[in-house]
Amino acid sequence: MELKQFIQQLPKAELHLHIEGTFEPELMFAIGKRNGIELKYSSVEEVREAYQFANLQEFLDIYYAGAQVLLYEQDFYDLTFAYFTRMHQQGVVHVEFFFDPQTHTDRGVSFSTVIKGITRAMDDARSHFGISSGLILSVLRHLSEESALQTFEEARPFLSYFIGIGLDSSEMGHPPVKFSRVFEKARAEGLKILAHAGEEGPPAYIWQALNELKIDRLDHGNRSIEDDDLVQVLVERQIALTLCPLSNLKLQVVKDLRDHPIKYMLGKGMLVTVNSDDPAYFGGYLNENYEAIAEALNLSKDDLRKLAANSFTASFLHEDEKQRYIQMMYV
Ligand code: HPA
Ligand code: ZN
Repeated sequence: MELKQFIQQLPKAELHLHIEGTFEPELMFAIGKRNGIELKYSSVEEVREAYQFANLQEFLDIYYAGAQVLLYEQDFYDLTFAYFTRMHQQGVVHVEFFFDPQTHTDRGVSFSTVIKGITRAMDDARSHFGISSGLILSVLRHLSEESALQTFEEARPFLSYFIGIGLDSSEMGHPPVKFSRVFEKARAEGLKILAHAGEEGPPAYIWQALNELKIDRLDHGNRSIEDDDLVQVLVERQIALTLCPLSNLKLQVVKDLRDHPIKYMLGKGMLVTVNSDDPAYFGGYLNENYEAIAEALNLSKDDLRKLAANSFTASFLHEDEKQRYIQMMYV
C-alpha cells in the first residue's frame, strides 16, 4: 500500500489543534464580508503570501488578527464544522482541541457565544461523522495572571463542556509558573492539565510544567531532549508529547524536517504523537503531517502504526475506547 493511502486508512486522534488555527483564508474572507469587517489583505492569495514566519511571534500576530472577524455563534460553528469535515475526510476519529477564549472575550464577544458555536459543531461532528471530541480552554500566557483568573471565573458556568485547560501563545519570558494558581483551581474542578512548553522555551519550562502545573500531557516539548534527566522522567511517567512537525518547520523550530526529534524520541521510549497545531497556517492537516515526517525521517509502517496508536494512548478517552481503536490498528 502506498504511504499516503496507508496513513489515510489508519484510525487517528488529533490532540494538538487550535481551532482558530484552522481558519482558512477563503472562510476568513466570507465571514469578514458578512460581518462587515475589512481584512488588511485584498485577496486570499495575498493572505497566503503573508504566511512566512521567522518564529512563533510572527505567526501569532497574524493568527490573532485573523480571528478578529469571528463575532457570532454561527461564525464559531462554521469555523469548527469546516475543520471536522476535513477530519472526516482524513480518517480522524477523535479530536481534543484548544480554543483561546481571551482572543474573543477581549473584543467583547461573549463566552457563551463562542462556546455555543463550537459545541454545536462538536455535536454535529459526532452525529454526522461519528467523530468524538473534547474541548480544552487555553490560557494566553502573554496576558496577565489576573486576566487568566478572570477568564477561568467566566468559564465556570461552562466547565462541563471542557475536558482540560491548556497554556499557549508567546512562550519566551512567560514561564508556566506564572499560572500555577489558575491551574490549581482548574485541577480542583477535575480538568486535565496541559501546557505548551519547550517549543521555543528551555527545558526549565518543561520542568515547571511538570512540577508546578502538574501537567497530564505536554504540548510540543521538542527541547526536552536537551536534558537527559528530563527525558528519563518523561519516559518513566509516560507523559505524552503532542509534536507538530509542519508547525515546527514553518516556525523554524527545526530548519529541516530531517532534523525533527520525533524518531529519536520514539527510540527513547517517549510517548510521542503527531499533530497539526494550526493547519491553515502551516500548510497541512493531520495526514499531511504524518506524510511529511514519514518521508523526512524514513519512518516504517510500524513506526506510523505506533504513532497512531500513541494518539489514542495519549488521549483522554476511556480505557476501553483506547483499546478498541488501538486493536483496529493491528488487524
Ligand atoms: N504555540 C504557542 N501558541 C500557539 C500555538 C503554538 O504553536 N498555536 C496557537 N497558539
Ligand atoms: Zn499549539
